[in-house]
Amino acid sequence: MTGLENTIERILWTEQQISERVSEIASQINDDFNGSSSSMVVVGVATGAFLFLADLVRKFTWPVSVDFIRVGSYGSGTESSGAPRISSDIKIDIKGKHVLVVEDIVDTGNTLTCLISHLASKGASSVSVCSFLDKPARRKVHFELVGEGKFYRGFECPDYFVVGYGMDYAELYRNLPYVGVLKPELYK
Ligand code: PRP
Ligand code: MN
Ligand code: MG
Repeated sequence: MTGLENTIERILWTEQQISERVSEIASQINDDFNGSSSSMVVVGVATGAFLFLADLVRKFTWPVSVDFIRVGSYGSGTESSGAPRISSDIKIDIKGKHVLVVEDIVDTGNTLTCLISHLASKGASSVSVCSFLDKPARRKVHFELVGEGKFYRGFECPDYFVVGYGMDYAELYRNLPYVGVLKPELYK
């Protein structure tokens, strides 16, 4: 297997740029949720959100609960199946709580649409979304937040299939500390 240094054609966001942007978003969330924070549940969407969530919650200035949910639609390819399934649910009771869904990327919007209605049905008093990347060029469904929920995003992503900082191609490359585009010969 080729080492990571030989797999990336182009870096879109460096480790340094990511770190600065994560700090900015976290301070925005700290300002917005100051006071209601004691009842916030951060729900990471496995697997892609694991690094972003870990970096983000360490910048929060109040204690939060953290849980994970697994919603998959891509399988091993680069195209969404359009039918996300919740294959592993949260274990924390979110009734009456403010939920912050943490995603690595919003693409078609199918995953978030499925997830938000699921979390709303469990009685969350608000559902906000914080996605590291947003790729509006690919949007197929418009998701609605719940209650006073807000949408936060790190960067707008151009229409490339990107990997790194949690994001995979065929379950690989999530461990890259930056975000980039693979060399074309690596997409099969
Ligand atoms: C990816 C990504 C988002 C979702 C976005 O997850 O992490 O969760 O797709 O796409 P959408 O807006 O078109 O629904 P994936 O299903 O690949 O699972 P993973 O996080 O385990 O890689
Ligand atoms: Mn995902
Ligand atoms: Mg994936």
